Formats: sequence, structure tokens, C-alpha cells
Amino acid sequence: MRTGVDTVTSKSLSRYRLALRVPLSHKDGNEHSYYLIFDSHTRQLDSAVSWISMVRLPAPNCDTEGMDEACEVCGGAGMQLIERADGSRAVRECVCRTRSRQQRALAAANIPRLYSASTLDNYETADRDNQGYTLNHAKYTAEKFVRFYPLETNGMGLLLTGSIGTGKTHLAVGVLKALIEERGATGIFFHFHDLIKKVQNSFNRGVSATEQEIMEPIFRAEVLVLDELGASKPSDWVFDTLAHILNTRYNERLTTILTTNYVNREPMLGRGRPMSAMEEAREALRNETLGDRIGERMRSRLQEMCMSVEMTGPDYRQTAKRAHFG
Ligand SMILES: Nc1ncnc2c1ncn2[C@@H]1O[C@H](COP(=O)(O)OP(=O)(O)OP(=O)(O)O)[C@@H](O)[C@H]1O
Ligand SMILES: [Mg+2]
Ligand SMILES: [Zn+2]
Repeated sequence: MRTGVDTVTSKSLSRYRLALRVPLSHKDGNEHSYYLIFDSHTRQLDSAVSWISMVRLPAPNCDTEGMDEACEVCGGAGMQLIERADGSRAVRECVCRTRSRQQRALAAANIPRLYSASTLDNYETADRDNQGYTLNHAKYTAEKFVRFYPLETNGMGLLLTGSIGTGKTHLAVGVLKALIEERGATGIFFHFHDLIKKVQNSFNRGVSATEQEIMEPIFRAEVLVLDELGASKPSDWVFDTLAHILNTRYNERLTTILTTNYVNREPMLGRGRPMSAMEEAREALRNETLGDRIGERMRSRLQEMCMSVEMTGPDYRQTAKRAHFG
């Protein structure tokens, strides 16, 4: 016997009906079908489950991707009948389908190979008394963010700042993966520099894809991770586009998670006494802040859009290397 979600009998943005068909041979020699009708509006199976024969429903047009015909729970239907404590019945998505949706979302998330194994769970915190490290707190905030997503976070993002090798990218990837796996989200990872290139490309009339096609995933992604903010200084017009992206995302309550090496402070340059060019260059290397790199207006907008998480700790790359080579 083969079961399957056969068709979407009616479909609109707010409501759909699914018919689960179980073909059965009847003693009269004809093939009959046993239908379970699930209505998304009532979120319940029709209480009267009946025999319906000679009914021809339209050809299947629902999302059958990721259905697992070998699934022992649903036999490929993708739906599972559950009984509530009060005896009422309902249909919910089968775990095989949830898992395959997560796998597709992870594959589409553009996570760099180097961070394919990075998770919140394997983010170690080396905080000890009197060291002034804040990695424990950063991990705690990241986990809390995942738990509270999406209702309580309500479009807020995370701004992870800190020195080299404190695990900012690792933690950002860990949050993205957890949102996909635990909260059913989808999202995409971009290095800041690559995003700038994409923005520039979208203005390039030579490319075949339209500006909208190129920019769509960035504007619309449910979660956008933007790694190493400030790593390159874009020109004013690219910069304006970026500000537009971040603003639009925030207004649409879409979450943006950013990492940066630059201290989350207002611009330092050009303040105080006048400096020689040489002094200014030296100061720039030493003291450049996030405000210097992305402009004060954008920085203060980010303050509004994101929970700021300062990550103070050792350079994990150095620590791990030392531990490895003794
Ligand atoms: N606390 C940690 N626990 C486990 N692995 C870590 C931790 N911190 C960093 N790592 C690992 O060390 C490497 C460097 O970390 P990561 O790239 O996340 O640091 P970063 O703060 O983003 O550095 P950068 O400032 O250079 O971008 C990665 O392989 C990451 O998985
Ligand atoms: Mg990084
Ligand atoms: Zn299943």
C-alpha cells in the first residue's frame, strides 16, 4: 500500500487544504481511496473521515521535495497524525520532512567550509577569574537569542565585536545554524567584502541578472550574517545601498547578525589636536573604530538594530596552536 499527500485541494496565502490519499483495493474489485483532509485554517483533520470513491482530484502540485518514502513514521506522506492529551486529533509535519527542510536550508546558507563544523555547542569559553574575558557571556547571549527568536527578538540582530580570533565568526555561524535547526529559520552568510562586490555587481549594467535578482536574497533573507563588517571601505554610493539594505531589513523585522574587529565606538580620527599625515596614519592603524570604518550614522543605526556583544578573550588560533604543538 502506498500513501502520499496527493494534492493541495485549495490554496491561498492564508489557507490551504491537503488531502492525504491512501489507495485501497475494495472487495468490489475497484480501487478506492481513503482520504484524510487537513485544513490549515482549523489545523485539524476533518472529524468525519470517510470513504470517497470515484473522486478525481487534480494532479499533485504541492511541495513534495524532501519527502522520504522510506520513513517509518509517515511512509513518505510528510505528515503525521497525532493524538492530543484531550483525545482530539491533529496533523503535523513529520520529522523526516522537518529534517530534510533543515538540510536544504543549511545547504543554501552559504556557510564557508572552514566553519562547517562550528556550532554553539562546540564554542568553548575559556573565561577564568580575573582574566576579564567575556566569552561565557557572549555564548550565553547567543543561546538566549536563539531561544527568543523570532517573537521576542522581533527583528533585532546581534553585533559581535572583539579582537582577532575570539571566535566571532564561529559564534555567528553557530547562531545561524541553531536558528535553522531549532527555530525553523532560513538564512544566508556573507563576508562583508563579498556583499560589497554583489552590491557593485548589481549596478553593473553588463551583468545579465537584474539588480533585483542579485539583491533579492540580501534584502529578503530571513536571517543575514554579515561577517567582518568594515573589512573594506566601500565608496559612498555602495555604502548608501548597504545602509538601505540594513534599514529595509530592520523595518521588515528581518534579523541581521554582524561581526567586526573594530571597536564599537564613535569615530576617533580627526578629533582633538591637529595631527600630521604620518601621525594620522599611525593613529588610524592603531585606533580606528567601527565609527571610522562604517560612518557614525550607520554605526548608531546598528546600535538600534542589534544587541551589542563585546567578545574579549585570547586569540583561539594561537591558543589552539600552542596546545597542539606543546
Ligand atoms: N571559543 C571557541 N571555541 C571553539 N573554537 C573556537 C573558539 N574561538 C575560535 N574558535 C575556532 O578558531 C578559529 C578562529 O575563530 P573565528 O574565525 O571564529 O575568530 P574571529 O573572532 O572571527 O577571528 P577574526 O577576527 O580573524 O575574524 C575557527 O576555526 C573557530 O572555529
Ligand atoms: Mg571572523
Ligand atoms: Zn516521515
